[in-house]
Amino acid sequence: MKRHANILVALLVLAVAATIGVLTGPTGLSDEKQPNPDPLPETVIEGTTPAQWRLVWTTDPAHEATVGWTTAEAAKTNAVFFDTEPRQGALNKYRHQQAAAAGRYSARKPVLHYASAELKKLKPGTTYWFVMVSDESVSREFYFITAPEGDAEFKFLYGGDSRSYREPRREMNRRLRALFTQDPEILALVHGGDYVQDGDKLEQWVEWLTDHELTVTGAGRMLPMVPARGNHEADSVIFDEIFHNPGGKGLNYYATAIGNEFLLVNLNTEISAGGDQAAFLETTLKNHTTVRWQCANYHRPAYPAVKKPGSALKYWVPTFERYDVDVAFESDGHTFKRTCAIRDGKPDATGVTYIGEGGLGVRQRTPDPERWYFQGGKVGSSNHVQKVTVRKDKLLVETIAQDGKQLDTWETKPRAVRRD
Ligand SMILES: [Fe+2]
Repeated sequence: MKRHANILVALLVLAVAATIGVLTGPTGLSDEKQPNPDPLPETVIEGTTPAQWRLVWTTDPAHEATVGWTTAEAAKTNAVFFDTEPRQGALNKYRHQQAAAAGRYSARKPVLHYASAELKKLKPGTTYWFVMVSDESVSREFYFITAPEGDAEFKFLYGGDSRSYREPRREMNRRLRALFTQDPEILALVHGGDYVQDGDKLEQWVEWLTDHELTVTGAGRMLPMVPARGNHEADSVIFDEIFHNPGGKGLNYYATAIGNEFLLVNLNTEISAGGDQAAFLETTLKNHTTVRWQCANYHRPAYPAVKKPGSALKYWVPTFERYDVDVAFESDGHTFKRTCAIRDGKPDATGVTYIGEGGLGVRQRTPDPERWYFQGGKVGSSNHVQKVTVRKDKLLVETIAQDGKQLDTWETKPRAVRRD
């Protein structure tokens, strides 16, 4: 009897403790002010500690990726150690290593150094675990997943304009992380440009890169980036040092193929839209007419929600229409938008749809909903990111606000016309 009483007392104590635990339990997970607490601490930039890492995809993300990072002091050696299994930072266990190119960022101050390691001959659709090593300093272990091959179904995020305001940018990065964590099918972030206010100011990039660390999942999965240049990067050399000359130093136009049936042409609105770049666009689309999905990514819009059209309208739109591009992702306006399908300067169901306008933390402007190309489309003022789902039978674009609410959803079927 006494034993039963003891058990009863013990259960009572446990119940009270559990109740107190609920009331006073760890803050964060249930804290409304911080519903999505940061799982990893910010990396302090000191000595040769690898900090401010970024993983860049360009032309062949099934087989290649570039890992970049920042150190305060110049290291004698910089390398990425990687493997298809986790090795918890035990350097002698990683089966592969790749030396990094390194240098000092082109800024008088602060004095900081970059390293970029090009990983090649990777296997498609494969998880790679890696650490960054600068002299004796070893980062924690991260992982990323290479793009799939074949007729793959996948998702990616699209967003632009992450400049100027740190806290909203950090909040958007937490939203990216939440999406990336909840949905492992998301492969990468396609960025439409305007990362910082002044692309020549390294201190602004330092803040941006520190905030970018927030996109890594709690399990250490790094979000690959497909970068385009914005007008606030203009001809910034630092852009190329951070992202390792995507599409060629100062040129920054290139096509990203994911599987056999998806092509993303990344263009640079900050150099001539005609000439070589227009020829590149034409040749690239011409060589991929049988690919099911073709999209474009660039900064200044052809069909803007706020400003006047950029040179894309004259030099690229006729080519998009000739080759039946499905979606052109545009940034710069600081709104969210989706146009109707457009061909020959008017609504046409067989035309190209323009989506985006930039909302990764920048202060939003008031769009003009009366512009003809928003009839049947959608426009609004809210920080946001687009989640793009690529399927065999449809391409779906969801616009998601900072708080996770869906602002817009749109889908299209594979185009009927293929011009060979
Ligand atoms: Fe811009």
